[in-house]
Amino acid sequence: MKILAVDTSCDETSASICKNDWVLSNIVSSQIDLHKKWRGVVPIIAKRAHKEKIDPVVDMALKRARLKLEDVDVFAVTIGPGLAIALEVGIKKVKDLSENFGKPIILVNHMEGHIYSNLAKNRKGNYYGNIEGLELPALCLLVSGGHTEIVLMKGHGEYELIGQTLDDAVGEAFDKVARPLMLGYPGGPIIEEFAKKGDPDRFELPVPMVRRRDYNFSYSGLKTASVIKIKKLKKEHGDNFSEIVPDFCASFQKTIADSLLLKLEKVIEKNRVNQLLLGGGVISNIYLRKRIRKSMRKHGIKVITPAKKLCTDNAAMIGLCAYYKTKRKEFVKNIEKIDRLPNLRIDEKVIF
Ligand code: KG4
Ligand code: ZN
Repeated sequence: MKILAVDTSCDETSASICKNDWVLSNIVSSQIDLHKKWRGVVPIIAKRAHKEKIDPVVDMALKRARLKLEDVDVFAVTIGPGLAIALEVGIKKVKDLSENFGKPIILVNHMEGHIYSNLAKNRKGNYYGNIEGLELPALCLLVSGGHTEIVLMKGHGEYELIGQTLDDAVGEAFDKVARPLMLGYPGGPIIEEFAKKGDPDRFELPVPMVRRRDYNFSYSGLKTASVIKIKKLKKEHGDNFSEIVPDFCASFQKTIADSLLLKLEKVIEKNRVNQLLLGGGVISNIYLRKRIRKSMRKHGIKVITPAKKLCTDNAAMIGLCAYYKTKRKEFVKNIEKIDRLPNLRIDEKVIF
């Protein structure tokens, strides 16, 4: 089964060729440089860049896999969640290809893709990540620029959304706190780098949702508290402010880890699983991975992580998820009806 998968949900234009669950190619054209000066993703700029890049990215994915469009058995594309006008570009491309080559379409939920990044294998048939086999039910912690959620994966395609952020996502909080620290965009990887040289106990920041018994997250309060604290520290330290940036980054990162673990610990009290699958851009963060691993070890839960390059947005994870959907024959029935679903939830079924 050869799958050509496309993802244009946010600010990366990506195409991948998978042969079953083996990734033959995975091309990602990042728009970071275009959005950098706005210090965030500008939807109209994203759309324009996707339109410009989609054809060369698809061509490159085929070339790297040494295949032609005629060889492809199934076309897969992210249907949501994401930016509506960005999603549309990938969907249109895949619709055109399906019509021209008479092959079926599989629609993939982007967050489900992040889960499946853990199941990707290389050209030799070995897993990229540390998984040895999926043990269901499994818990999934998905942490990206747009989402922060805990999901119970009961089976392939069967999910229960246990908790999610009520406002900002973790990646968004990293990006927004990086602004007043003048660290550039995206903030996550830069904060992680600075944090390596900092003292995580120097600044006390409020761990969100401590008193709430549910499994939801919230990061807008922490973001605001951090921005206010940074302003104060700038006044206090003046020209020497840059000296305390590593300590601030380390303290912020630690607070994020504390908040994720607070909820995870609660969830595993009620849901016994052997595996916790991590996914999403923020999961590239080594400190967070270590903290989660250490905490889950106490409970005998194995933490499964994708390869670092498959944490941030890419089409290979979409191809992987599509492969499992082909086994269930979840092909699109009515191509004309396909429409992007920018707010798609992980527990929603997509029927077109
Ligand atoms: O999954 P992703 O590529 O896109 C979305 O689906 O949102 O995640 C992007 C987010 C950005 O907010 C970025 O700052 C964050 O992931 N990120 C990180 C790291 N690398 C990327 N956050 C913390 N530490 C990192 N190393
Ligand atoms: Zn993503």
